[in-house]
Amino acid sequence: MIHSFDKTAQREGTASLKYDARLATFGRDDVTPMWVADMDFAVAEPIAKALQARALHPIFGYSLAPESLYQSIMDWLLAKHGWQIKREWIVLTPGVVPSLNAVVAALTAENDGVIVQPPVYFPFFSAVRNQNRRLIHNTLLLDDDDVTNLQYRMNLSDLTACASEATMLMLCSPHNPVGRVWQKYELDSVLDIANKHDLIVLADEIHADLVYTNAQHHMLGLLAYDSAKSKAAFEDNCRVITAVSPSKTFNIPGLGLSALIVPNKVHRQAIESHLDKLGVSVTNPFNMLAFETAYREGGDWLNGLIAYLQTTRDEAVAYIQLGMPEISVLPPESTYLLWLDCRKLSLDDAALRHFFIEEAGLGLSPGSLFGSAGEGFMRMNIGMPKAEVMAVLERLKSALQQRR
Ligand SMILES: Cc1ncc(COP(=O)(O)O)c(C=O)c1O
Repeated sequence: MIHSFDKTAQREGTASLKYDARLATFGRDDVTPMWVADMDFAVAEPIAKALQARALHPIFGYSLAPESLYQSIMDWLLAKHGWQIKREWIVLTPGVVPSLNAVVAALTAENDGVIVQPPVYFPFFSAVRNQNRRLIHNTLLLDDDDVTNLQYRMNLSDLTACASEATMLMLCSPHNPVGRVWQKYELDSVLDIANKHDLIVLADEIHADLVYTNAQHHMLGLLAYDSAKSKAAFEDNCRVITAVSPSKTFNIPGLGLSALIVPNKVHRQAIESHLDKLGVSVTNPFNMLAFETAYREGGDWLNGLIAYLQTTRDEAVAYIQLGMPEISVLPPESTYLLWLDCRKLSLDDAALRHFFIEEAGLGLSPGSLFGSAGEGFMRMNIGMPKAEVMAVLERLKSALQQRR
């Protein structure tokens, strides 16, 4: 089945956050929305068909997560990432953001230090603040001496210093918003530091399945197993917790479901007990069906999506690099998000937002949302037909020309 990503459906009026919150967010409802990270592509046909078939049954009672759902997660992680996990390691949750909050609450104590690596997906900050924990910033290093070579790296020596006053590290892997897929040596160093300092590592790997051909994703839990001195004691000693979900990759984030992979029984029980106390129901008739169908039958659609987005990414980045000297950008190794370095425009946050909204007609996410290391940047979601992305960039280029 060939899926066309050049077509899209009308999203206005569908209670879409990305489209229908434009007036409230940007002060006007006609900006091209390239902010919230979902895509304007129809889901894979097997997912749509499964949901349509379920909707024909007129009763939507409480649901029970079937064993086949757990098995689909295990099969996916093994086939896609070579990671053999056990059924009992899986804790279903209503989403990755709730998972971040639940894990911080369950496994750290009031005032504990939790390390984040800004610029980073902003709910990392709130997950720590919400539980009255202390945020410790291990800011990413930016090698930007050459315009065409804007690359982020982890600051591993600073991470060692931060680790001595923290109990947890929240890792974003691949990293939103900078688009890095961390290399094996970087992740091995993270594990090494975590082991030496007794840090729990909460790895948000929601973007793990949307990785372009120039990079390879390594799941931290698998690296931890590979490097464990005693395989027999791996579960008891494991301090890595991994959040996964097909929601971003398969464009079903509105359905709200994700999984935590927690090999350590003590950690798992603490997280489950925290979730129990919230009384939140995790599965519903639609989310578990979409989740399982994505993992079981979405592979071809995903290959098509990655190829499509890779072309969009490459053309968009080349267009910006060639025609917009005020903006620096590197092709992300993962995600459908471009991290635009607009610092050469010398505009403060409010003026930069104003320029993008009023002069270019674009609704992007301001970089400052991702921490002060993101000031002067804007995040652009290119999960839409390529022709639209290129039309937007043409508009941006003329807006920039007007300013010169
Ligand atoms: C790194 C990261 N984690 C989590 C989420 C959201 O997860 P969920 O919708 O399952 O709460 C996003 C969405 O953009 C993300 O980029």
